[in-house]
Amino acid sequence: MGIEQQVGFDVERVRREFPILETKVRGTKRLVYLDNAATTQRPKRVIDTLKEFYEKYNSNVHRGAHWLSDLATKMYEDARKTVKEFLNAHSHREIVFVRGTTEGINLIATSFSRGLLKEGDEIIVTEMEHHSNIVPWQLVAQQTGAVLKVIPINDKGELILYELENLITDRTKLISIVHVSNSLGTINPVKEIISLAHQKGIPVVVDGAQAVAHISVDVQDLDCDFYVFSGHKIYGPTGIGVVYGKEEWLEKMPPYQGGGDMIKEVTFEKTTYNELPYKFEAGTPNIAGAIGLAEALKWFKQFDINEVHSHENELVQYATELLKEIDGVRIIGEADNKTAVVSFIADGVHPHDIGTGLDMEGVAIRTGHHCTQPIMCHFGIMATARASFAIYNTREEVEIFVDALKKVLKFFRR
Ligand code: ALA
Repeated sequence: MGIEQQVGFDVERVRREFPILETKVRGTKRLVYLDNAATTQRPKRVIDTLKEFYEKYNSNVHRGAHWLSDLATKMYEDARKTVKEFLNAHSHREIVFVRGTTEGINLIATSFSRGLLKEGDEIIVTEMEHHSNIVPWQLVAQQTGAVLKVIPINDKGELILYELENLITDRTKLISIVHVSNSLGTINPVKEIISLAHQKGIPVVVDGAQAVAHISVDVQDLDCDFYVFSGHKIYGPTGIGVVYGKEEWLEKMPPYQGGGDMIKEVTFEKTTYNELPYKFEAGTPNIAGAIGLAEALKWFKQFDINEVHSHENELVQYATELLKEIDGVRIIGEADNKTAVVSFIADGVHPHDIGTGLDMEGVAIRTGHHCTQPIMCHFGIMATARASFAIYNTREEVEIFVDALKKVLKFFRR
């Protein structure tokens, strides 16, 4: 992967690599960017990589009979190897490039619906899934007659794990769970769930969108059957993501989309499919995106993930502490094991007003249901305000955010 030497963690040095952090919101307020669960910012070297690709190497991959296409193909396939090493996958054949986590889960669900699921089969998800790990399975359930079952959560925002044993039956065909909740920050014990599922021969899909940039992920150690993530949540470009799938599963799964590159031979009588991973990559892929993602992963690997995790945890704890001191503020999601996200509500002030008010102070957060309406339903609320942290955030930014929040609440409660 051309892994760089690990450097000690220095947040000010990290910040200097992100040009956007210099932005003044509406030309006046310093940008305090706390919407990282929605998308992270990109370091300059990722931005430069994209620019350089289009300036010097742009060409289509795999099919060209010319020098430039060979170069682009090599860069694209090297990017796949970088992802393979990042996840510690067994083979590059297990790495499929997709648009993002949403497309990744749709790929697995759609493929399973084409012969691997039948009426009465059961799929288990959790109450804390993003809609992108609920709706694709509902669509598949409608088509096949399969049934969706749900692991509930407790009021701290943790999975009630003992329920899983009751939910699993001999009709359970698949379990799909989020590694880290985008609304609550909960880190789920996926390794334990996978081990339990495997005792019964059930494959497990892990939605890693909110995990890869915050905690260590090793697919061989987890022993998950599928792991899916998006590039833009780990300092890479939008429009690129990854499905890791164990070869044994990808081999037996039918293609997701049909088109160029995913075939070996086409006749009107019979079409045969390409080898892995190309069987799942129909059409021209996001070449620059894959190369940009690889650059982001190389950049991120400079840091010790444990240092990143403890830096972000410190910010979560500090923000939680300060928020709890404010009258009428309630944290939503207080799992013992959580990361990077603080969701909250405040008496008498709608989360959207909090978001708009904070924006006037230069603080970018997200408000709403965060594509997790079942979580909102569990807590009996419509929405939360959510601050989410990344490697470049600081304690000072937490203080600016909380001071701005106090001002906003005072204004709306006057
Ligand atoms: N799923 C993204 C979020 O949590 C967009 O904000």
